Amino acid sequence: MSDSIILGIESSCDDTSAAIIRGNQILSNVAANQQIHNEYGGVVPELASRAHQQNIIPVVEKAMTKANIQQKDISAIGFTRGPGLLGSLLVGTSFAKSLSMSLDVPLIEVNHLQAHILAHFIEDANDKAPIFPFICLTVSGGHTMIVLVKDYFDMEIIGKTIDDAAGEAFDKIGKIFGLDYPAGPIVDRLAKTGNDTAFTFSKPRLENYDYSFSGIKTSVLYFIQKEIKKKPEFIQENLADLCASVQKSIIDILMNKVEKAAKDLQINEIAIAGGVSANSALREAMQLRAEKLGWNIYIPKFEYTTDNAAMIAMVAKLKYDRKEFADLSVSATARYDIEEGFTQKSQP
Ligand code: KG4
Ligand code: ZN
Repeated sequence: MSDSIILGIESSCDDTSAAIIRGNQILSNVAANQQIHNEYGGVVPELASRAHQQNIIPVVEKAMTKANIQQKDISAIGFTRGPGLLGSLLVGTSFAKSLSMSLDVPLIEVNHLQAHILAHFIEDANDKAPIFPFICLTVSGGHTMIVLVKDYFDMEIIGKTIDDAAGEAFDKIGKIFGLDYPAGPIVDRLAKTGNDTAFTFSKPRLENYDYSFSGIKTSVLYFIQKEIKKKPEFIQENLADLCASVQKSIIDILMNKVEKAAKDLQINEIAIAGGVSANSALREAMQLRAEKLGWNIYIPKFEYTTDNAAMIAMVAKLKYDRKEFADLSVSATARYDIEEGFTQKSQP
């Protein structure tokens, strides 16, 4: 089974991506990023689906050429069924269905959120794969949650955001500072030369493992409005310190709850996943806890953190081995809980 060759397709938001996996090894992982949204300060759904339509064929062709495979070598096709923008998901779903029909190979549906987590099982994602059960802080532009991963397809959300996602907080606060979309990576870069204790912002006080990020966004907005009244150049003069301080606040909020969950559940296998797991301060914060608390940490290779088709191909491979195939009636779904989908336990 391990020499199956699977094509993975991802089109849930603003990246059109295709990847080829053989066994657990990624042979190619190609993405076309849609720059068009930058000028609008966020993803415009209608423009995103149009760009997916333009990109999908060249991206798939490039992934196959890079992997040095032909259509006849493909054992199955995996695609992101949801969650995401419906118009974007429809492009990948329709393409995957048509190709599976014309090549007469199985079609495999993938939950995008499960894929962010299961990216850890790609051969070169980590030095070694996490051991079940592990805790995975899953942080992206649309989701922020602490997931207890009991098995490949047995995941339980133990905490989640009650309002904005962490990536959304980075992006919205970055926008207040006048930064382009997505602001997360820009804040990360600018923070490197800033003082992270220069400013402090209010932190939410929520019980259990839930998060809230709308408070910090409002607190930054009011603070900036007040300071700009006194000095119009306030942002320009303090940009690095502002970015570093905001970043520190967000990472502290994220990590404090993970620490609490790890302690309560007595689990020291801790992973991070999703676009925000590319953040250098979050990666450092994990490293620090590993040293201080004896955690075994799993930080995926950079290219497997933000949206990519390699993670979709990885999940498709796991499902291929279990013969969990979709039929042609499968449809894209904008909402798709991480706890939904196939929950069959892996074989011992
Ligand atoms: O997982 P992802 O690519 O797409 C979603 O499924 O949402 O995550 C995108 C999010 C964006 O909000 C982006 O600003 C954030 O991840 N992000 C970062 C960094 N790289 C991407 N946030 C902070 N620091 C980064 N280095
Ligand atoms: Zn994502």
